[in-house]
Amino acid sequence: MKAVILAGGSGTRLKPLTYWTNKHLLPVGRYPMICYGIARLREAGVRDIVLVTGRGSLGDFVEVLGSGRDWGVSIVYRVQEEAGGIAQALELARPMLHAGEKFAVLLGDNLFSESVAPYFQDFQRQPDGAMVLLYPVDDPRRYGVPEMDQAGGRILHIEEKPEHPASSYCVTGLYMYHADVFDIIDGIKPSQRGELEITDVNNAYAHAGKLTFRELSGWWNDAGTFESLEEASGKLKGVLP
Ligand code: DAU
Repeated sequence: MKAVILAGGSGTRLKPLTYWTNKHLLPVGRYPMICYGIARLREAGVRDIVLVTGRGSLGDFVEVLGSGRDWGVSIVYRVQEEAGGIAQALELARPMLHAGEKFAVLLGDNLFSESVAPYFQDFQRQPDGAMVLLYPVDDPRRYGVPEMDQAGGRILHIEEKPEHPASSYCVTGLYMYHADVFDIIDGIKPSQRGELEITDVNNAYAHAGKLTFRELSGWWNDAGTFESLEEASGKLKGVLP
């Protein structure tokens, strides 16, 4: 399976650290954050990665990752000129993926303590639709929050950063799609904050009864704040050599 890593955006919550580099290149333990995602994808069998980032950061990513050879993967880069949302960033990977192909999308600030290979294997057996991974959180209002049909193993609806969360789970930033996701992106409109939202894409699958989920069994974090960055350094000690 191929994968797309989204590593654009402005990293506002991590200023002043992000004045000098992209959020996804900040240190987590002994490695830049992005390396953990690449290692997890490689471990799950991914060899081809499309990495999307902003114009001002591209050179930094090439310095750190190059062709991907040191990490056992091949990386193709795409530039997101302005941060117009996660779904807009994903759309830039369209020319690299064939009709009918299955692939994973990883938000570059999402860190996992466990292998994601079993989830990829489950998705390979899924005939159509998409799959997301859930994690129980203390403050769901910071995330996309699912309403689930537990018995059916499907998500009914996701609300982005809700005031009154329907569950105490977060939809993490590792999504599994078929290339039909690009047709869905074509059909969505910018949200109130002017972004093409990944939650609107996922809701198109959910409302069609085609969004399955798995619950993560290990630790997960999105290292978008100082607190979560610090926590990640501790939790991921020793994950990379
Ligand atoms: O981390 C999980 C959460 O990620 C989900 O629960 C939410 O449903 C999802 O919307 C997202 O929420 P965030 O508020 O954390 O998204 P953020 O704007 O921080 O962007 C997440 C990643 O996507 C980040 O690593 C950079 C990348 N990105 C983001 C935007 C807006 C891009 O590459 N381009 C963009 O335009």
